[in-house]
Amino acid sequence: MSLSSNALNPALIIARKRDGETLTNSEIGAFVKGYSNGSIPDYQASAFCMAICLRGMNTAETTALTEHMLHSGVALQWANAMRPVVDKHSTGGVGDKVSLVLAPLLASVGLYVPMISGRGLGPTGGTLDKLESIPGFRTDLTARQLQEQTQQLGCAISGATHEIAPADQKLYALRDVTGTVPSRALITASILSKKLAEGLSALVLDVKCGSGALMKTERAAVELAESLVTTSAAMGVATTAFVTSMNQPLGAAVGNAIEVEEALATLRGAGPSDLRALTLTLATELMLLTAQAGTEHQAKTALQDALDSGAALNKFTEMVTAQGGDLAHLPSPQKKTDVNALTAGFITRIDTEALALTVIALGGGRRLPTDTINHQVGLKILHKVSDHVEPGTPLLEIFAPSVTTDICKQLRTAITIEACQPEPPPLIYQTLRSPAQ
Ligand code: URA
Repeated sequence: MSLSSNALNPALIIARKRDGETLTNSEIGAFVKGYSNGSIPDYQASAFCMAICLRGMNTAETTALTEHMLHSGVALQWANAMRPVVDKHSTGGVGDKVSLVLAPLLASVGLYVPMISGRGLGPTGGTLDKLESIPGFRTDLTARQLQEQTQQLGCAISGATHEIAPADQKLYALRDVTGTVPSRALITASILSKKLAEGLSALVLDVKCGSGALMKTERAAVELAESLVTTSAAMGVATTAFVTSMNQPLGAAVGNAIEVEEALATLRGAGPSDLRALTLTLATELMLLTAQAGTEHQAKTALQDALDSGAALNKFTEMVTAQGGDLAHLPSPQKKTDVNALTAGFITRIDTEALALTVIALGGGRRLPTDTINHQVGLKILHKVSDHVEPGTPLLEIFAPSVTTDICKQLRTAITIEACQPEPPPLIYQTLRSPAQ
């Protein structure tokens, strides 16, 4: 059987991948097109995804899959753009509100950020859910509205509508129920098909590792980061990935409205030091990748000034107003309950996944896609790994309408206290740049 006839036969394409063979660009294209237009049914697409999960894909195959998924929808064109178009993607973490600070920060120093974001996935929070705690904030901009607002204000943050990489939306829903989410090639194509549809000049990736992340180990995170950087560079976009820690929450706040409050504090030049440091690192890299600064020092100084002067906060306010939001009525956190330490010692471990699952159990996240979120629910984690505590020291605050003793116990056991002081874990484990940079 020749390759050209295989390209038209889904069963043979699946069988070739099952046997560990390398698929051609046209076979991958035929599969993406067939699944998008409904001529390939779910059962064949499931088998295709499972074969990829088990056999993997090389760079050429992953790039072809990404390109075909990207071109299943519209791709933004910036023919007359006077500024570089950039974005960041995070694989998702607990307390990760970087996008809320980063997009207006970069816009305030003259870059365009048409950010397409997602909702909470498993334990990890979603930028759209956080922004929707601002009354009236619209996250359903059309591709055209996203582009127009970016050209007017410098930034917009919205969801992937059916116009952007629709093949990914269909395939992701299928992967979710067929045990095929954790494939490096499928994750790479899924993330990059949406991000590169924004027509970017440069992209930074925050690949998180730890208990509350998609990738639990540094090794798995580095492998995903390598796949993302290589594929994105093969598609002509200057890309850097940072492998960062999710072995403790980023900042102190975990929830929705409470994370918006913390992002606002950071935009005012205050906020937690780890959130500010990571945001500055990601933004600095984008300024260097797009030659908007000659040196790291120049980039960082401009960005720090934008945070400390209120320029980034003004940009955030403009963006919220343009998208219909009313910051004056951000819901305040619900009734507070403290959870205190029972013993003296050093914090050696924070189980971020357990914290996030408790927020979901309290109504601050979704168990099912149809669940509604109580945006006022959240946690404030008052200490970091390596901090010393005494019996009675408050470890965290719970904001929820009703809190049982079981919930308090569950949260207390998510924070391990031991006699020996550990080193504080690094914020950034590794940086991976594409070879041409
Ligand atoms: N995020 C995505 O957008 N896609 C994946 O496959 C995994 C995480």
